[in-house]
Amino acid sequence: MSKRWAQERKKDHYYKMAKRDNYRSRAAYKLSQIDRRFDIFNTGDAVIDLGANPGSWSQMALELVGETGIIIALDLKPIESIPGVTFIKGDVRSKITKKKITELIPETGINVIVSDMAPNISGNYSLDHAKSIELAEMALEYADEFLNKGGHMIVKVFDGDLAGDYFGQIKEKFKISKRYAPKASRKSSSEIYMIGMSKR
Ligand SMILES: C[S@@+](CC[C@H](N)C(=O)[O-])C[C@H]1O[C@@H](n2cnc3c(N)ncnc32)[C@H](O)[C@@H]1O
Repeated sequence: MSKRWAQERKKDHYYKMAKRDNYRSRAAYKLSQIDRRFDIFNTGDAVIDLGANPGSWSQMALELVGETGIIIALDLKPIESIPGVTFIKGDVRSKITKKKITELIPETGINVIVSDMAPNISGNYSLDHAKSIELAEMALEYADEFLNKGGHMIVKVFDGDLAGDYFGQIKEKFKISKRYAPKASRKSSSEIYMIGMSKR
């Protein structure tokens, strides 16, 4: 982490809020802003959180679904445990990971899938964009397999040439589809959230 970046982060409004509210990162507010706008989560929902490290989306999702809800979180990197969240360390692209997730799914199925997955940044934007879409495709594969009819999905992508086709797939699979940049996304960020509501 460069010194300048660390200094700028300390001045950041959402960074300060996350420290104050005990969220593991400022990203928590992106999820709460998306939920406030589109009303994605309901009490008691079962949620899969793809790309969960360090865990702020899982923390926020847990708050939004309450004690009766279920959160299954996945990441390549481990997270410090969060009471009420079941974590799996693995690659979303691996069959073994998918099998582990399958074993955790409750009989009532999954109501919401969220993916904040992002590739390691290479500095080559086209490459990073393509990798981000590849991860988003995996999230959609999870939605095909695990998400209940009527369920909702939130997926982050780095915007670019391939995003239009990807959004087309969301439109096909969900009755309502939106693209949204929450206020908590940094102004300089190319990330965009695609939201699918009410799976067909
Ligand atoms: C921006 S971070 C997620 C932040 C998280 N939503 C939070 O609020 O704490 C993106 C995460 O995606 C994960 N990721 C990237 N590729 C992945 C893959 N193939 N399988 C699982 N997780 C992946 C990374 O390890 C990284 O932790």
